[in-house]
Amino acid sequence: MEVVIRPDAEAAGLTAAGIVQQSLADGVTTIGLATGSSLTEVYRDLARRHRHEGLTFSDVDAFLLDEYVGLPALDPQALTQVIRREPADHVDLDPARLHLPAGTAADPAAEARRIEQHLTETGPVGLQLLDIGVNGHIGFNEPGCSLASRTRLKTLTDDTRRENARIFGGIDEVPRHVITQGLATIGEAAHLVLIATGPHKACAVAAAVEGPVTAACPASVLQLHPHVTVVIDELAAARLQQKAYYRCIERHKPVGQRY
Ligand code: GLP
Repeated sequence: MEVVIRPDAEAAGLTAAGIVQQSLADGVTTIGLATGSSLTEVYRDLARRHRHEGLTFSDVDAFLLDEYVGLPALDPQALTQVIRREPADHVDLDPARLHLPAGTAADPAAEARRIEQHLTETGPVGLQLLDIGVNGHIGFNEPGCSLASRTRLKTLTDDTRRENARIFGGIDEVPRHVITQGLATIGEAAHLVLIATGPHKACAVAAAVEGPVTAACPASVLQLHPHVTVVIDELAAARLQQKAYYRCIERHKPVGQRY
């Protein structure tokens, strides 16, 4: 696992967007998208690179990680709308190649199985972007979930619903159920890039990066993946014990050491 610490959220966004750009230049054609406040700067910078530097997504399939169950497709809080507003509408992604979970499917469990099947046929994902919840979730894989989980219907914890109430205007408005790629599904991507910014993410980042691998912190499963880059700002890095070592690795990275 490579841990890259940047002074602030904007710099972290630039670094992560640079990783995406490099991956596409290296031939990645399938990417995984996530939602979350830590990704705002990443998506902003990808849009800028598209406008000013010729970065193109025209040959890319993009999969969204998760979605609330039951929100109307055009609800502004539906993650499919968030992903359209943030990166998708600002770059040249082919709408037919933007693959979104249908939160309004009559049978959400069957929709989850369809996504898993689709990923098997189109994947593997070359580069997966991730944010992290304050309770250590990635996607909507909540604490206690199986480290071997696949895409499925899940129930949110009240902690997550409380956390997201600020966006919905009240906890009662936050759906209780979601469709999310599982931890094992996410782990099939060749390269995972977790972005976390802000002081409220510091405990989750420390648990994920330096704590034990445990379902109590679903993001800790990333420690078992062969290629993970964690891009964080100083505030999110505040509780890491090995900050000096991560900086040393970045400063002295020899040619040939990939991660
Ligand atoms: C939602 C997403 C998660 C993300 C989390 C963090 O819950 N489903 O994938 O990790 O948001 O959001 P924020 O960074 O806004 O706290």
